[in-house]
Amino acid sequence: MRVTIFGASGLLGHALKREWSGDEVVGLGVEDGDICNPAKVQEIIRRTRPDWIVLAAAYTDVDGCESNRELAFAVNRDGAANVAEAAREAGAKLLFLSSDYVFDGTKTSPYETADARNPQSVYGESKAQAEVQLLEILPECCILRTAWLFGMGGKCFPDTILKLASSRPALDVVSDQRGCPTYNVDLARAIIQLCRKGASGIVHVTNAGHCSWFEFAREIVKAGGMATEVRPVSTQQMARPAPRPAYSVLSPASRLRYWVEMPPWQDALRRYILERRT
Ligand SMILES: NC(=O)c1ccc[n+]([C@@H]2O[C@H](COP(=O)([O-])OP(=O)(O)OC[C@H]3O[C@@H](n4cnc5c(N)ncnc54)[C@H](OP(=O)(O)O)[C@@H]3O)[C@@H](O)[C@H]2O)c1
Repeated sequence: MRVTIFGASGLLGHALKREWSGDEVVGLGVEDGDICNPAKVQEIIRRTRPDWIVLAAAYTDVDGCESNRELAFAVNRDGAANVAEAAREAGAKLLFLSSDYVFDGTKTSPYETADARNPQSVYGESKAQAEVQLLEILPECCILRTAWLFGMGGKCFPDTILKLASSRPALDVVSDQRGCPTYNVDLARAIIQLCRKGASGIVHVTNAGHCSWFEFAREIVKAGGMATEVRPVSTQQMARPAPRPAYSVLSPASRLRYWVEMPPWQDALRRYILERRT
């Protein structure tokens, strides 16, 4: 199988390049594979002749998207559409990375793939509009929604908490947002399986289980062998530019239809802490 990855220099791309073996994989960063340049995207697809394209490239700064709306839509929606057009032209399959932030967070039970999109942030809106466009351009594409990504190869929440915990006696962390932490290594392995199984449609993939950011931080401090106190605070107390869903737990039902297993997030976190130390 030939695979072309856009966004290969990011957090997920890092793990995809490392985990993917046995296939012919080309990974592109923004400098050699800018998805906002349709001619360049077409040229890359013609040259690499992929069976699968994994589209992990995105403008992922959720707060930055609020003040850079045009850039958010140019990359996350229009850039994604450029890749989908090129995939259609070349007869390649496409797996697009989307987000739990396409939901409004008002549910109290896990989001299923058929639940209505109702994004609250510019980032979420750009991803939601990309999903709709991609399904029009390439109805058989695979839209993989994930959440709360962490791992080696980029900035992530556990790194921030471990850094702060080493210099402060106590940390205040939001306790009224619930989601599913996801280790980039486990997500990369799931993506490889889904491509090999010819997945299509919307699939939710996160590590198993869910927690609040506060519970996640408490587990990070514990796994890091630290004694720093972690205190729960409300979203209101920690104002950020972009609104976040209060509840964005993604149901595993769609990935289980492809027999894709994901370890619990606590297990994934421990493996990540070990990986950081080596
Ligand atoms: N991180 C999360 O918690 C999370 C949650 C849900 C969904 N997702 C989605 O999962 C995917 C991977 O996320 P990630 O955390 O790996 O993101 P990331 O670390 O920010 O990586 C994104 C990659 O896209 C590249 N990029 C940005 N603009 C581009 C452009 N115009 N053309 C080509 N490449 C471009 C970036 O390059 P530079 O670094 O050089 O700018 C970077 O390599 C994204 O689609 C994201 O929306 C992430």
